[in-house]
Amino acid sequence: MSLRSHQLRCIGSGERIAPETVSSDFRDPASGELYEVEYPWSESRGDAAATNKPNASALRHLWAERRDSTLPIDQSGVWRYRDLLPILNDDAHAITLREGNTPLYDLPRNAKALGLDFLLAKHQGMNPTGSFKDTGMTAALSVAAERGYQWVACASTGNTSAAMAAYAARAGLRAIVFIPEGKIAWGKLSQSMDYGAVTVQLKTDFDGCVKMLTDMVKKNPIYLLNSVNPYRLEGQKTPAIEICEQLDWQVPDHVIVPGGNLANGSALGKGFGELKHLGFIDRIPKISVIQAEGANPLFQWFTNAEKMLHPVTADTRATAIRIGNPASWRKAARIIEATGGWCEQASESEIALAKAQIGAEGIGCEPASAVTLAGLKKLLKSGHVQTGERVVLLLTGHTLKDPEYTIDFHKDLLATDIPEAAPFRKPPIVLEPNESAVMRALEAEMAVKV
Ligand code: F0G
Repeated sequence: MSLRSHQLRCIGSGERIAPETVSSDFRDPASGELYEVEYPWSESRGDAAATNKPNASALRHLWAERRDSTLPIDQSGVWRYRDLLPILNDDAHAITLREGNTPLYDLPRNAKALGLDFLLAKHQGMNPTGSFKDTGMTAALSVAAERGYQWVACASTGNTSAAMAAYAARAGLRAIVFIPEGKIAWGKLSQSMDYGAVTVQLKTDFDGCVKMLTDMVKKNPIYLLNSVNPYRLEGQKTPAIEICEQLDWQVPDHVIVPGGNLANGSALGKGFGELKHLGFIDRIPKISVIQAEGANPLFQWFTNAEKMLHPVTADTRATAIRIGNPASWRKAARIIEATGGWCEQASESEIALAKAQIGAEGIGCEPASAVTLAGLKKLLKSGHVQTGERVVLLLTGHTLKDPEYTIDFHKDLLATDIPEAAPFRKPPIVLEPNESAVMRALEAEMAVKV
């Protein structure tokens, strides 16, 4: 078997299939379970994996060298690591917008306020279309293009659709997007139109959009690019590699991610797991997932220790994660349990405050990303994070994705019931063009203590 070949392994039965034979909804027809990509060197291959392992120190060196290359696939922060995601028959088929390569910022003020020595934010909102979805989309859409599909599609709360539309445009493929009417941020809606996708606003929620699309792909030659597509996760595992590389191959203790459809936490877990299996790192960070209180089926599953997930009718202003029936919940639950992480929820007020606190460090993110800081506070309180731990928050979307939310916060229209939020509010001040009026406003501002 060549290093390039891969199979799809059902996460329920463990049964392996050839990639070309997978059903159009990416589910095992018998069990309804999802697949994951398995390589000859994957840990799940048991003894076979030992003889096929790529060499960690050679790869570290190669990846560092590629930083100086002018080749688009070397400049991509996903394809630079292509040795660990050999999913294309020919690397020249990669569709890239130079995704990845996102900054790992420190958050000194938030760290101090929480009594932490080490708090970092991996800002995936600094990707080409402003969210972490680009890392997964470059991978899965390249597979679609290589396999000769003309049409790609997704159901989305806005970021997947923005990413898919952009990569489809680059590849010259036709794209169709299903989004819940009136329930996504304008910035995201505008992107899918800008990149030329057929944008369908369905009069239902995200979960209704998924149902409709799943039925459609079974009857038409349309390639499904939701995160049930296991190639999405191959791209989304690369920030785990990038974080380790940025920390000079030191491993953080805890990585905290927002949870919506619940693919991302498991993608990062797969990334860290593969790095450990191949000898790049000697341990895996705990991975915790934070949901919004109004869209919290995994949190409920976790705290009730039930074996079945009960879908909820989702409602949150963090529209990116307004998902009541998450497709990848089993994958996420498995990674949280395997790494010793935890699942928490954050209220609307806690999300709003956390977003303002991240913004006040000059970074900014969309509300769905801010659940990570809100969740961290709770994990510290409950003892699931210790103050000595090195924590990384995954910021998944750019602050400009949802400016309406930010403006509503500052104008105090979000009904935030946390007094600590008040000093962070900076509504626009309307004044006469008169210097003394401006000076009075500045004096009032000087009196505010943050
Ligand atoms: N953060 C942002 C900004 C998102 O857009 C999403 C998901 C998540 C977090 C949650 O990630 O689904 O892997 O648990 N957005 C999807 C979309 C569902 O359609 O854009 P997840």
